[in-house]
Amino acid sequence: MRRLPLRLAILEATRTLDQAGVEAARTDAELIAAHVLGVDRGRLPLVPLIDPPVAEEIRALVERRARRVPLQHLVGRAAMGGITVEVGPGVFVPRPETELLLDWGLTLLRGRRYPVVVDLCTGSGALALAAAHARPDAVVYAVDNDAEALAWARHNVDLRAREGDTPVRLYTGDVRDETVFAELDGLVDLVLCNPPYVPEGTPVPPEVAEFDPPQAVFAADDGLAVLRDVVATAARLLRPGGGVAVEHDDTHGGSVPPLLRRYAVLTDVTAHPDLAGRDRFTTARRV
Ligand SMILES: C[S@@+](CC[C@H](N)C(=O)[O-])C[C@H]1O[C@@H](n2cnc3c(N)ncnc32)[C@H](O)[C@@H]1O
Repeated sequence: MRRLPLRLAILEATRTLDQAGVEAARTDAELIAAHVLGVDRGRLPLVPLIDPPVAEEIRALVERRARRVPLQHLVGRAAMGGITVEVGPGVFVPRPETELLLDWGLTLLRGRRYPVVVDLCTGSGALALAAAHARPDAVVYAVDNDAEALAWARHNVDLRAREGDTPVRLYTGDVRDETVFAELDGLVDLVLCNPPYVPEGTPVPPEVAEFDPPQAVFAADDGLAVLRDVVATAARLLRPGGGVAVEHDDTHGGSVPPLLRRYAVLTDVTAHPDLAGRDRFTTARRV
């Protein structure tokens, strides 16, 4: 069996992914190779040659990626804050930009002991679990209304608890229900939410259209249907000095901040851009 140079396998993979229209072709090729080899991406230069079965395994995953299966489905996990969660069919893949929301929330919690955190629309549980990992003293609640997403979240809650993180309290519920988490009214330090917010009918890449559950991505009322109720829920849940961070579409920079300003109890309403300068999430604090 002749061994093959890894860098040639990566070059071939990059070309295949590029031709398939995958945006970060080189990155994805390297991450697939690293996954198959069981090493960090940064250590790939230390692997000069690979065996033919390894090359075959890389090629098979690259072919699936070229058919626009999300990278995170192929490697089985996605990163959020200091952890990774497992993901696959039936659950929304956590995105790097959502870490901005998490960072804002963790900064707000600095200096507070035993904070209460609520993650509305939790999906895989990524935000809730990353908050629980960063703040072991926190009591973290999470809710979603989708059975498949909740099954992934339950699995991830169990995995993180086995790693020693404080277990997240996971609930089935609709964030549009005005009694959701009513027992926490006025007690919550931080509400985080990445709801479905893409306006219906917006064209999205195949990874989203074919693999993210539609109810996790799209929302009626120009993308604001769920978000509107999330803001009402946050205003009700927060304790004085608590804060809310809600992710939204980059077209919502003008429409989401006014939704929060409608509540006299919310102050410091601020729209935040992502690294590309697009409005990406809005925050507020409870007076
Ligand atoms: C964009 S995903 C976010 C998942 C996760 N927070 C993340 O950032 O990866 C939105 C999630 O909201 C859930 N969802 C949609 N409408 C909901 C509702 N009315 N009540 C509760 N959850 C809802 C979907 O099932 C989906 O898991």
